[in-house]
Amino acid sequence: MEKKILNVAVIGCGGIANSKHMPGLKTVKEAKMVAFCDIIEERAEKAKKEFGTPDAKVYTDYKELLKDQSIDVVHICTPNRSHSFITIDSLRAGKHVMVEKPMAKTAEEAREMVKVAKETGMKLTVGYQNRCRPESVYLKKEVMEKGVLGEVYYAKALAIRRRATPTWGVFLNEYEQGGGPLIDIGTHALDLTLYMMDNYEPKMVLGTSYKKLNNPKCGNVWGEWDPKQHKVEDSAFGFIVMKNGATINLESSWALNIVDPIEASTVLCGTKAGAQIKNKELILNYDKDDKLVEEKPISDYEGTIKQASAGAEAQQWIDAILNDTDPCVLPEQACVVSEILEAIYKSAETGAPVYFD
Ligand SMILES: NC(=O)c1ccc[n+]([C@@H]2O[C@H](COP(=O)([O-])OP(=O)(O)OC[C@H]3O[C@@H](n4cnc5c(N)ncnc54)[C@H](O)[C@@H]3O)[C@@H](O)[C@H]2O)c1
Repeated sequence: MEKKILNVAVIGCGGIANSKHMPGLKTVKEAKMVAFCDIIEERAEKAKKEFGTPDAKVYTDYKELLKDQSIDVVHICTPNRSHSFITIDSLRAGKHVMVEKPMAKTAEEAREMVKVAKETGMKLTVGYQNRCRPESVYLKKEVMEKGVLGEVYYAKALAIRRRATPTWGVFLNEYEQGGGPLIDIGTHALDLTLYMMDNYEPKMVLGTSYKKLNNPKCGNVWGEWDPKQHKVEDSAFGFIVMKNGATINLESSWALNIVDPIEASTVLCGTKAGAQIKNKELILNYDKDDKLVEEKPISDYEGTIKQASAGAEAQQWIDAILNDTDPCVLPEQACVVSEILEAIYKSAETGAPVYFD
């Protein structure tokens, strides 16, 4: 790309736009935020004031925003239901797109997004920022890509909270989100696990889901919810068998009777060694001279991205556009995450396993 500075627009100026996208983009000197859209106008106005250029534009209709030829990149931070159609309209309008996770509400929508990105030649990525955390970068580059674990034949993707149901926005609304903790936070843990295993070929999925803990008065970190509005599962579990024979156990919950909540976590068990990301710490385990050893290597690692994951995610994305290289998260990979999540929901509903072609 000839340009040195990219004009970025943000569609959906709520929680994740304010906590990740806009602060992240603010640290990238090759990007400026020139347009903001939200169906609640004050949110877009506030975002402009805090993060925009002085002449940034404010919209309430994303289709109007997409008419602006000067916009190069669009970040889509709306609820899950609108990820697919806003992404497709943006790609067709000639914009590069970062869309929030999950890629889409359904796997079919995700596949269509991949197809349109290919047709238009625009770049598309998905907001799985956990890949950009220092311990993830180390695990990928220094451990997985160097084959330190040997053959990984068992993994766990963990996103289990004791009592942390999101009570803002539309997280409890099945129509808007497509599900509860599985599609909300299970998606991060599964993405991280597949990325580390570099394995995107599922063979079979068996899933269960539950709606058991519906006492909004008890200890929820984001306060009470209205039980009548809670239309999604509170926990879901998946047993995933990959075509190469590896097994992944996925556990997700917003509310579960456990004492050790753990999130955005992956456990990888290989023939030579194991690795675990637990509470943003990387722990390796192996045997050496007939002794079992544990190691926390990250503190010594020089090549680590020092920025917080928000800035690191935004920087690698803007760099990928400017240098015409791949962003960290490829849409084809995020699409497989959506396909597996959907298979878990389907299996939970029917009680039967789901087989992939
Ligand atoms: N990457 C992460 O860790 C992470 C964390 C939280 C949320 N998310 C994802 O981000 C998305 C948004 O979640 P949130 O917590 O920011 O929700 P939110 O409700 O706080 O914000 C969503 C915003 O989008 C606006 N909006 C809705 N429809 C719109 C439309 N058609 N055009 C323009 N604006 C529209 C809403 O008015 C709201 O301000 C979800 O897909 C969620 O899964 C990701």
